[in-house]
Amino acid sequence: MTVTPEFRFRRLRRTSTLRSLVRQHHISTDDLILPLFVEEDISAPVAIPSMPGVVRYPESQLAEVVQRAWSKGIKAVLLFGVSTHKDNVGSDTWDENGLMARCIRSAKQAQPEMVVISDNCFCEYTDHGHCGVLCEGSHEGLDVDNDPTLANLQKQAVVAAQAGVDMIAPSTMIDGMVAAIREALDEAGYSHIPVMSYSTKFASAFYGPFRDAVDSTFKGTRATYQMDPANSREALAESMLDEIEGADILMVKPGIAYLDVIAAIRANSERPLAVYHVSGEYAMIKAAANAGVIDEQAIVMETMMAFKRAGCDLIITYYAEQIADWLNN
Ligand code: PBG
Repeated sequence: MTVTPEFRFRRLRRTSTLRSLVRQHHISTDDLILPLFVEEDISAPVAIPSMPGVVRYPESQLAEVVQRAWSKGIKAVLLFGVSTHKDNVGSDTWDENGLMARCIRSAKQAQPEMVVISDNCFCEYTDHGHCGVLCEGSHEGLDVDNDPTLANLQKQAVVAAQAGVDMIAPSTMIDGMVAAIREALDEAGYSHIPVMSYSTKFASAFYGPFRDAVDSTFKGTRATYQMDPANSREALAESMLDEIEGADILMVKPGIAYLDVIAAIRANSERPLAVYHVSGEYAMIKAAANAGVIDEQAIVMETMMAFKRAGCDLIITYYAEQIADWLNN
């Protein structure tokens, strides 16, 4: 770096036009993915108390919500189903008339150009709330049985593809999930459908409000499949293995507490990288904003910039529509 003691950084900060000329990172609606919760058997939106401004939509409103997001410039939605058809394996997820398949069809029909992404997991569809098939595995109690879960993920991915999904986003943190899904999609004639893997997902307290959001029946720990927040080498290896398994897009989740992990993956991979700005991150900003102690828009935009600066291309955030409104004004 060629700076001398006399160098003056402030020369390029003098006016807002000069500052914008040398600005390195930008946020646009092209970067944003909007997560949507869709619940069966409700007729009006249900508020999520810990996440003011986020609701669970009835299936009947998904089409208009997708159109509204599109009209604001949002190009991608990530669908979560809140199921009332729970069983011990989450079989509704691979039912061609199940909640996820219905949501995919209605989102695609409402706005064919919208990139419709399905969150591929089981926790919102199992009566125990774990992300897969159970076994008596860990001394902490029930555990997820890896390979039987892979077989179910394959069925789920193919059904989502048949329903017209544009991208599959497996979030179970089951070993081998990307390779298994890739193989199943290819065999079923969906080699053109990309996989955005939740490749480095931590067992995080920042998911707390999400559990309210999806009414999770879950009790216990996901630490036998999600990553230990203490482990940075493993965090990189998890994403690199998913790249080898064929992930088209990698992801770090949660976001703001893991910028070092984002930077490490960015330095080691050529793949597009996404970050999930999760429920707890949203809830904390909202709570502080509602308490009148921060400038919400400034804090959110600075947070988004931090993700871009750390090396992310895509940001999954509950703030997507609000950010679009701010950018459009
Ligand atoms: C489930 C899943 C979780 C989130 C997305 N998919 C949480 C969990 O592991 O319990 C978190 C989303 C959020 O907190 O915003 N596999």
